Amino acid sequence: MTQPVLEIRNLSVEYETRRGIIKAANDVSIDLYPGERFGLVGESGSGKSTTSLSVMRMIKEPGRIVSGEIVLNGETDILTLSPEEMRNVRLSRIAMIPQGAMNSLNPVVKIKDQLILTMATHGRIGKNKVTRKEINELLDSVGLQPHVADLFPHELSGGMKQRACIAIAISMRPDVIIADEPTSALDVVVQRRIMQTLKRLQEQLNAGVILVGHDMGLMAQFVDRLGVMYGGNLVEVGTVEEIFGNPQHPYTQLLISSIPSLERKGEFQTIPGQPISLLDPPSGCQFHPRCPQAMSHCSTVVPKRVAPKAGRTVSCLLYETEGMTDNAATS
Ligand SMILES: Nc1ncnc2c1ncn2[C@@H]1O[C@H](COP(=O)(O)OP(=O)(O)OP(=O)(O)O)[C@@H](O)[C@H]1O
Ligand SMILES: [Mg+2]
Repeated sequence: MTQPVLEIRNLSVEYETRRGIIKAANDVSIDLYPGERFGLVGESGSGKSTTSLSVMRMIKEPGRIVSGEIVLNGETDILTLSPEEMRNVRLSRIAMIPQGAMNSLNPVVKIKDQLILTMATHGRIGKNKVTRKEINELLDSVGLQPHVADLFPHELSGGMKQRACIAIAISMRPDVIIADEPTSALDVVVQRRIMQTLKRLQEQLNAGVILVGHDMGLMAQFVDRLGVMYGGNLVEVGTVEEIFGNPQHPYTQLLISSIPSLERKGEFQTIPGQPISLLDPPSGCQFHPRCPQAMSHCSTVVPKRVAPKAGRTVSCLLYETEGMTDNAATS
């Protein structure tokens, strides 16, 4: 079997706040293969950004990676790298299009200079070595005209800014691209076009992509596999066909049924109950207070990861039978 380009192994991240410790990612494990598009979904606060920022080692105070490994190409655990080594990994091996990326462009620096700076910093090449032709080719690859190079971010539309961020992210030809809600602030038509651009570039690079988002419809069109997060836990992983055709976790089932269908004419079925407070999470399975299929022991027993087959996992007591857990499979 092919070597994953990225393995997130048993990642746990906490934020130590004045009100208490927030366990924002709990024992999260994801394998990403070259050329694969993996979607990470779940409601606000479920730990999607925390997980993706960890891969970039960009968790800031008061956050901290408590345990786990993040292995690149089966060789380097990036959590053991020095800050200098990690700087070299960023963009050249793993690039991120952050949440709200278009606001991350430097407002007083022209697009071409932002590209040159990125390439010079991460490619260890002199600023003068980046040619106008290279800049133009990069802009062209994300569907931007050459004159955009000489504009400042405020002179660009939201979609154009997002394209410029993608150009920066792919400029060092990374093996892994993390895209955190790359199109959430844009209208549907622009969204679709930008996702097509990202897909085309990712396929050309054979890069693995982790796409974070809320929109299950967009996910279904873009990704190969999906991971569903709830309260910092990755509660289910499967191919798009498996997740949409045969969702196992009751939370995934509710997420799928909340997608507006043509027949239901856009009527959203909301998921009953409140999102949990991570400061004081429910005991046992965190989803049990909202779960329509909750059993008596769900409030006391923490579900283990069950792996019915390679690449498919679910953490729910409905599926727990002796000897089927992921722990058993990997030990
Ligand atoms: N800097 C921080 N300090 C304290 N708590 C934080 C910080 N960043 C995130 N959290 C908490 O960690 C949890 C997970 O947040 P995260 O941003 O990873 O969620 P998310 O799934 O990306 O949400 P969204 O869909 O809104 O982007 C939340 O409870 C959030 O309040
Ligand atoms: Mg987020």
